[in-house]
Amino acid sequence: MTITYFGHSCFLVELGGVRLLFDPFISGNPLATRINVASIRTDYILVSHGHADHVGDVEDIARRSDAVVVAAYEIATYYGRKQLNYHPMNTGGFWNFGTWWVKAVSAVHSSVLPDGTYAGNPMGFVAGNSTECFYYSGDTALTLDMKLIAEEFNLKTAFLCLGDNFTMGIGDAVKAAQFVGSRQVTGMHFDTFDYIKTDHRKAHEAFAAAGITLKLPNIGESWEA
Ligand code: NI
Ligand code: MN
Repeated sequence: MTITYFGHSCFLVELGGVRLLFDPFISGNPLATRINVASIRTDYILVSHGHADHVGDVEDIARRSDAVVVAAYEIATYYGRKQLNYHPMNTGGFWNFGTWWVKAVSAVHSSVLPDGTYAGNPMGFVAGNSTECFYYSGDTALTLDMKLIAEEFNLKTAFLCLGDNFTMGIGDAVKAAQFVGSRQVTGMHFDTFDYIKTDHRKAHEAFAAAGITLKLPNIGESWEA
């Protein structure tokens, strides 16, 4: 799979021929001013929860791309009322889109849309196809539920929040990687705001000590996983 980082918790994952965009928050991100939102095209937009730093550019990109918004029922139908394509899910649910599949997994956090609309429960995702799959944590605390992911899936890689204060910090993210059974981790939800400024060296050392490879991507960077 090919991955591109657009800052904060936003990644474009190209899996086989399908493009999956996660939690687009680019135009409002002071660190991502070099990213041209209008140039981003995707087939699906997966939204972990309703907070502004995860949905900022959903509407704009979905409209331009004619993409399908995949999210909790409350968030998906919210965008449906804005005439966007959507696929509603809820935690624990699996869906096969044909070229790829996704399971909505639990996340311990909160969720409301920027205009105050109730957004249901937050979620993470395990997504994949017939050859590979990955975990995207969304915003969450460390949970024992993550061990269920290792029981069910053989992950190629995991995207884990680690900026602390609002989500897991570095130490809990290392445990999360162990719980889900991924030796390859990409960090997210770090540095964007003062509350989540992260010591990169400390993060790399903590993961290395556990025998796990950590990537803290640069905004705009693309790589193969
Ligand atoms: Ni959040
Ligand atoms: Mn967040």
